[in-house]
Amino acid sequence: MKKMPKPYEVMETLIEYVNDAYSFNKLNLKGTIQFYLTYENTTYDFFVDVDTQLTLHQGELNDPTVILRSKLYDFLDLASGKLHPVIGVLTRKLMFSGNIGFFKKVMQQKNLFIAGVDIDKYRDEVKDFEKNPHNPWIEPKSVLIINGSPRAKNGYTDFYLRPFIEGLESTDANVEVVYLEKHYIKGCKGCLRCMMSESGVCIHDGKDEFEAIYDKQMKADLIIFAFPLYMDGMTAVLKSYLDRTVRSDYPFKTEGRLRQRHSRRNQKNQTMMVFSICGYLQKENFDALHQHFQQLSITKHMPLIAEIYRPASIYLYNNPLMYKKLNHILNGLKNAGKEVVKYGRISPKTKKIIEQNAEKNDVFMKIANNFFFKKMKNNEKNF
Ligand SMILES: Cc1cc2nc3c(=O)[nH]c(=O)nc-3n(C[C@H](O)[C@H](O)[C@H](O)COP(=O)(O)O)c2cc1C
Repeated sequence: MKKMPKPYEVMETLIEYVNDAYSFNKLNLKGTIQFYLTYENTTYDFFVDVDTQLTLHQGELNDPTVILRSKLYDFLDLASGKLHPVIGVLTRKLMFSGNIGFFKKVMQQKNLFIAGVDIDKYRDEVKDFEKNPHNPWIEPKSVLIINGSPRAKNGYTDFYLRPFIEGLESTDANVEVVYLEKHYIKGCKGCLRCMMSESGVCIHDGKDEFEAIYDKQMKADLIIFAFPLYMDGMTAVLKSYLDRTVRSDYPFKTEGRLRQRHSRRNQKNQTMMVFSICGYLQKENFDALHQHFQQLSITKHMPLIAEIYRPASIYLYNNPLMYKKLNHILNGLKNAGKEVVKYGRISPKTKKIIEQNAEKNDVFMKIANNFFFKKMKNNEKNF
């Protein structure tokens, strides 16, 4: 169980960090610092031996080189550079006695806490490809569709995907579909061992089927995440899979497009796409998902080249009056598949066809309700 660290533990961690920087800076100082730090009405006595290393002790010294009395928070502000020592002294937040010059020398390295860290070899800067994958657009040779519907081949996701795949396959791209539901994938334990190992090895490796799918993902040029909307987001099976892909990153952060993100192990140029369907009528049901994928595109360094959101998926399929519209949409999906490979985007015309409104609100409600009412009455298990 994680517990709030005690003042001594805070100091211990602090000294550990400073020691790394201290050895890096080779300051070559000798002396002792006595601290009287107040936290929640209690004053804690610590002293630090300054030599080739800093060593923290509890208690008091007879004759320290320098003494600092302050609130613990004020000392932490000083240590992090938020409190200037002169201001600290003038405002009596910091009270020194003894050899202040010695204290200054120990603390003078402004970057004490970041010195000694060299993550240059893990650099992963924003590439032109990420800023604009269409300049020039290179047709993906391999397309991986990750179907995250728990109903796999029996689902509506699969049904709406089929014409889209036909479109993809009408190009030179090699297309593969993985049905996540058919694979045994253990959940991420959050230990971050994969991230923190040089090779990205996971504690579940060899114990489930994740690696084989991940390997395909790493090799693909375009990855399409296809799934039904569940609870206004992605399905658990897909989320579970995606959580495991945290191994693609190092724990180090780097400047990214719009915000910081982790640097990757494999810096292959890849694009991604989202393909989702849902039961409700309005396309706004996908708003949260759209936001999620925009963010994923940043954190995963992968341009999101297209998004397909098809609401009223059950309604369109099951209502005979929708037959013409359904066919129109399926044709649109076929075109979209071709366009995505050929041009790296779906034309506004095709998108309009795919995402066209299925029905008037009140009519949809009545017909959809009748559909489910009948199913319930007849105790029908399938839909
Ligand atoms: C657990 C669960 C959650 C769902 N959540 C939503 C939702 O938030 N919004 C929505 O419009 N439809 C929702 N649906 C409906 C599905 O998106 C819809 O039935 C879809 O067509 C199922 O696709 P599939 O047959 O590939 O599983 C949900 C369905 C299930 C089973």
